[in-house]
Amino acid sequence: MPKSVEITFARSAKPAGGVAVVLAAEGAKPGPSAEAVDPAGVLKKALKVAEFKGKARTAVDVIAPSGSSADRIVVVGLGNTAKPDPDAWTRLGGAIAGRFGKARRATVFLDAPDVEIDAAAVASVAMGMELRAYRFDRYKTKKKDDGNGNEPDTVKVTIVAAAAAAAKKLWSEYEGIAGGVMLARDLVNEPANILGPLEFAAKAGELSKLGVEIEVLTEKEMKKLGMGALLGVAQGSTRPARLVVMRWNGGKAKSKPIAFVGKGVVFDTGGNSIKPAGGMEDMKGDMGGAAAVTGLMHALAARKAKANVIGIIGLVENMVDGNAQRPGDIVTSMSGQTIEVLNTDAEGRLVLADALTYCIDKYKPEFVVNLATLTGAIMVALGQFHAGLFSNDDTLSEQLTEAGLATHERVWRMPMGADYDKLIDSKNADMKNIGGRYGGSITAAQFLQRFVDETPWAHLDVAGTAMGSPANEISQSWASGFGVRLLDRLVRDYYEK
Ligand code: BES
Ligand code: MN
Ligand code: ZN
Repeated sequence: MPKSVEITFARSAKPAGGVAVVLAAEGAKPGPSAEAVDPAGVLKKALKVAEFKGKARTAVDVIAPSGSSADRIVVVGLGNTAKPDPDAWTRLGGAIAGRFGKARRATVFLDAPDVEIDAAAVASVAMGMELRAYRFDRYKTKKKDDGNGNEPDTVKVTIVAAAAAAAKKLWSEYEGIAGGVMLARDLVNEPANILGPLEFAAKAGELSKLGVEIEVLTEKEMKKLGMGALLGVAQGSTRPARLVVMRWNGGKAKSKPIAFVGKGVVFDTGGNSIKPAGGMEDMKGDMGGAAAVTGLMHALAARKAKANVIGIIGLVENMVDGNAQRPGDIVTSMSGQTIEVLNTDAEGRLVLADALTYCIDKYKPEFVVNLATLTGAIMVALGQFHAGLFSNDDTLSEQLTEAGLATHERVWRMPMGADYDKLIDSKNADMKNIGGRYGGSITAAQFLQRFVDETPWAHLDVAGTAMGSPANEISQSWASGFGVRLLDRLVRDYYEK
């Protein structure tokens, strides 16, 4: 399908060629608009032959009979509308866009008997379409050929709905969120030769156009602050580290900010504790946490969120080199705590330790959520459909869980505690950067917790969800952009009053 959609909203429209999409709830007939695009009445038989039941996101494709103003008609299932799936509308939009094929025009009729489709639903469908269309093809010099000329780059979509006017207003907000997700995907998909710490920082800097305040700390400044943990990771790379602070001040002047911190390892070779060659290329995505934080700041600024939000990303490259850190090195973090680096491949926690300390010392946030592609072990525990949630705060955990269900960016809370914490005590320093053989995601979280004091905190281990993502209705990309919609929702539902 085309890689972008150009969306307009209308109260009514007649397709002029292209594909016409109509909806049908489970066990019900298609909406009234189906009759308009199907004057000959062929759909009834087609749906019967296809044994179409209206299950959510299933579809039947029919070549339009003569007399229809469309070339093709697609009926898409709405599922059980009395018990809708969470985030049903966004996913429906993705499923619809997945049926556009080579069409250059699409007319999507959002109506169904006895189903209320409000402005938020309509805008969500539009967002789902945009996210589905995304693809990373910047480095393909030959365009996809469909056999008779090039595939169109964009499909013009008219969404027909009763709530069109209100949806159009909301769309500018939702488009901002989609933009944040796609920014995060781009950053994760981009190879590390192109996106080093400086280039990532420059990308984040572009958010100033949306009114985000940007501050970039250099290595010299970080050294002065005592960020020995972060800088120890960076010292094996010829490309210098950066810490980027993004601030969106959309809330009341006096109200405390909320904060998001991201792991931004632009490439993770493992350092001297080097990774095996097979699959190492995936480590270009080891900045998925930082990408999500950057995408989130984009989303919040684009939709002018009424909240004060800090986004901090630690950008480093973990390389093998004559100056790279060695197993057994002891570094002093900004917090003053010392760390014995027993495995240079457990580098994300070292970067986050100093980023978290800086965030909490300087901004005293109401809470901090960090995101990181932190451990392979989280994939062993949860697979790729939930991010690991580790937290010292039940309220924040519940809010994240709810936001996850609402956006289908799901999180699953994992245990923490003193028994696990003990596993990272070190003989030679305050702590070591790895635990034992088991519970690797938990000991990693325990490590981070030693840098947050009493601040309400949550850590999302997104190693399984941010990259190498299984394709779904709204993402066909290696990088999913996981975290942007989740945290946008957290802010919207709980922190914008
Ligand atoms: N970036 C990796 C974790 C990772 C692995 C992310 C696979 C995405 C896919 C992290 O820096 C790492 O190497 N973790 C080690 C920790 C271990 C040395 C304690 C791991 O998971 O093996
Ligand atoms: Mn690593
Ligand atoms: Zn890593």
